[in-house]
Amino acid sequence: MDIHPELVSAAAKLVPGGEFRVGNAVDTATLPTGPFDVVFMLTLHSHFDDPARWIDSIDHLLGERGRAYVFGLFNRSPVDVVIRMNDVANGTGWLTGWNQFSEATVGRLAAERGFEYRFHEYTPIARVEKDGADSLRSHTVSIDGSSALTFVNGSQMLHRFALLEMKRSC
Ligand SMILES: C[S@@+](CC[C@H](N)C(=O)[O-])C[C@H]1O[C@@H](n2cnc3c(N)ncnc32)[C@H](O)[C@@H]1O
Repeated sequence: MDIHPELVSAAAKLVPGGEFRVGNAVDTATLPTGPFDVVFMLTLHSHFDDPARWIDSIDHLLGERGRAYVFGLFNRSPVDVVIRMNDVANGTGWLTGWNQFSEATVGRLAAERGFEYRFHEYTPIARVEKDGADSLRSHTVSIDGSSALTFVNGSQMLHRFALLEMKRSC
C-alpha cells in the first residue's frame, strides 16, 4: 500500500500476482480490512509528526496473535526530533520523511495500547554511494575512520535505523 498511485501501479507490474492498493496508512477508511497475522511498515512512519497515528493504524490492522514490524528511524536517545528538509538546488520545498522519534516515546505509546515491543538494532552491512544529483538520498559514511557504516544525506543528520517489533500483550 502507498499513497502515490504511480508507485502502486509500478509495484503491481513488478509482482503480477501481488495485491496492491492506493491508500493513506493513517486513514482507517483506506486501510485494508483485517485482522492480519503480520503487518509491515517500511520507512514510512517518519513522515508523521504524531507517532500515535501510525501506531493506531497497526492497532487497527493487527490480529490478536499477530506481529507488526516497523523499520525506519528511531532515536535511541530520549529525544523526539521533527524534521523538514528543503533541497534548495532541486526546488523540492519543505518535505517530510525524516522524523526521528525516540524509542522512549514510541514504546510508551505502544505500551499504552496494550502492545509488547522490542527494538532491534540495524547495522548497515553494504555501502550505498552518494547520488550527486539528489541531496536527500541517504547514503553510507564511516565516522572517524571506523569500519562501521551509518547513513546520512545532504542534511548531515545521522539516520539511526532500527526494527520495531510489536505484539499484543497476553
Ligand atoms: C521512503 S519511501 C518507502 C517506500 C517503501 N515502503 C519501501 O520500503 O521501499 C516512503 C513511502 O511512503 C509513502 N507515503 C507517504 N505518506 C504516506 C501515507 N500517508 N500513506 C501511505 N504511504 C505514504 C510515499 O509515497 C513513499 O513511497
